[in-house]
Amino acid sequence: MSLQNFLSRLDQLQSDAESAFSGASNAESLEEARVVFLGAKNGQFKDVQKMLGGIEPTDKRAAGMRLNEVKNAINEAFSAAKEALESGGGSQVDPTFDPSLPGTRPTLGHIHPITQTIDHLTEIMGRMGFEVAEGPEVEDPWHNFVALNIPEDHPARDPLDNFYLATAAAGGADAPGETGEGESLLRSQTSTVQIRVMKAHQPPIRIISLGRVYRPDAPDATHFPMFHQMEGLLVDTNVTMANLKTVLRVFANNYLGDDVEIRFRPSFFPFTEPSVEVDFLWNGTWIEFGGAGMIDPNVFEAVGYDPEKVSGFAFGLGVERLCMRRHGITDIRDLYSGDLRFLQQF
Ligand code: DAH
Repeated sequence: MSLQNFLSRLDQLQSDAESAFSGASNAESLEEARVVFLGAKNGQFKDVQKMLGGIEPTDKRAAGMRLNEVKNAINEAFSAAKEALESGGGSQVDPTFDPSLPGTRPTLGHIHPITQTIDHLTEIMGRMGFEVAEGPEVEDPWHNFVALNIPEDHPARDPLDNFYLATAAAGGADAPGETGEGESLLRSQTSTVQIRVMKAHQPPIRIISLGRVYRPDAPDATHFPMFHQMEGLLVDTNVTMANLKTVLRVFANNYLGDDVEIRFRPSFFPFTEPSVEVDFLWNGTWIEFGGAGMIDPNVFEAVGYDPEKVSGFAFGLGVERLCMRRHGITDIRDLYSGDLRFLQQF
């Protein structure tokens, strides 16, 4: 065989092998191509190598050198193709994949509507200078009742109206409601936070506290044994009922709408004097949203303030009620059933 023929046979072999390796779309077809070109028995390279014997002795050196070059080139092409397949960069992509289609939308969680409401209320009150304060949900009777001027025999302390906790530290098996200071309970109102804030700080004070409260009510469309309140407290000098009404009006106009009106009805709470019930005029009906009033001097005394020097107001509004009115929700139980068809609407 002439050197010329041998060399062109080698060139052909190299380009055939290279395109076979780079065109292999998976490990299996790459292996098939490897056997065709580099197989130890009948591989094409072996065939060409055998032809070296028929080359003129004077041309052998040149032919051998070229043979080695081609062998290296084919081996390299094989390794490169193998690496490309292993790293996922195969030259062929899934033929059914259409990059122009929109992707699958990942499902993201929602912020619960009550949490959204709490954030919204916090933002509105924040613009009026009210800072957020927090208190524990497991309370003692002093913060939940005594300091709030709720006497021992008051019906609000009835075991049937509260979740007293039968903890060892709280007096064990003692009949709830009779032992006084030691026992603990799930707080029935966020007014407890008023006491904690006033005990820890001096006036002026301007806070809100949003959180869960607990009462053993049978669930129906408007009751649930756990719900949320927004407590407000402002203590300063020369605070009046007009200040209270203005704050609540601005709040209602921001949360429920510009045309919402506010009404105070005389009422009674042990911790305020005078006390009022707060109604907002909403779509033609007056709806009660909570209670409010001027801080009772007994409460100031309980936290060590001088009632002659400071004055203040407080209010407590139902968060669920606000949220339900704004969003047209008619059953409070929907908020806590965990039904995604309901929750996904928010
Ligand atoms: N704590 C009362 C309740 O749970 C609501 C309330 C009334 C809070 C008057 C206040 C207030 O701060 O001044 O029904």
